[in-house]
Amino acid sequence: MANVKLAVVYYSSTGTIHGMAERIAQAAEKAGAEVRLRQVPELAPQEAIASNAAWSQHFDRTKDEPKATADDIVWADAVLFGTPTRYGNVASQLKQFLDTLGPQWQQGLLADKAYAGFTASMTAHGGQESTLLALYNTIYHFGGVVVAPGYTDPLKFADGNPYGVSHVTGGNNDNPLGDPENAALDHLAQRIVKVAGKLRD
Ligand SMILES: Cc1cc2nc3c(=O)[nH]c(=O)nc-3n(C[C@H](O)[C@H](O)[C@H](O)COP(=O)(O)O)c2cc1C
Repeated sequence: MANVKLAVVYYSSTGTIHGMAERIAQAAEKAGAEVRLRQVPELAPQEAIASNAAWSQHFDRTKDEPKATADDIVWADAVLFGTPTRYGNVASQLKQFLDTLGPQWQQGLLADKAYAGFTASMTAHGGQESTLLALYNTIYHFGGVVVAPGYTDPLKFADGNPYGVSHVTGGNNDNPLGDPENAALDHLAQRIVKVAGKLRD
């Protein structure tokens, strides 16, 4: 839908969620949305990042990319949040960003928008759905409208996550996104753009 404003706000240590966020941004632009693709700031100590080659490389590659601000959420008609699964929960980096939005929440500036999420975990299932449900607790407090994908398209029977979109990175944490995940990411983007346009109008 034309002129829908979508913010894709995410945290990624080793690049998986970053790749999913880029895929979503492209699909939403194709669907006519204006997109802000924004990462939240890294909070981990330098020695933790340095201890993991994939994390270090991804940090160096993306450290100058635009950072999410409260205005990105206030500006948007729709927001897609991306986070790796951390013990079945939202990564603290994304949670910290959400926790800075108190003033906007207090003014009602986060309500009545369309929201959904995407995640990844190393193991199959691995806490993916609990991570998305934990993320949505915050959306309910915003007064947001959770636009879950459900099984609203036959392709959702292939990726199998009605709560959002998720990917299994595998034991080496480097499984590439497959066709079912890419199709589900495109669907999530197209669906939230369509629903956010209807909500706005
Ligand atoms: C502290 C920590 C906790 C994690 N918890 C889980 C978990 O509960 N289940 C799981 O399958 N993977 C878990 N993982 C693996 C990450 O979810 C996986 O590496 C991540 O989704 C990759 O995303 P990224 O490349 O965008 O950082 C954990 C990783 C870390 C560092």
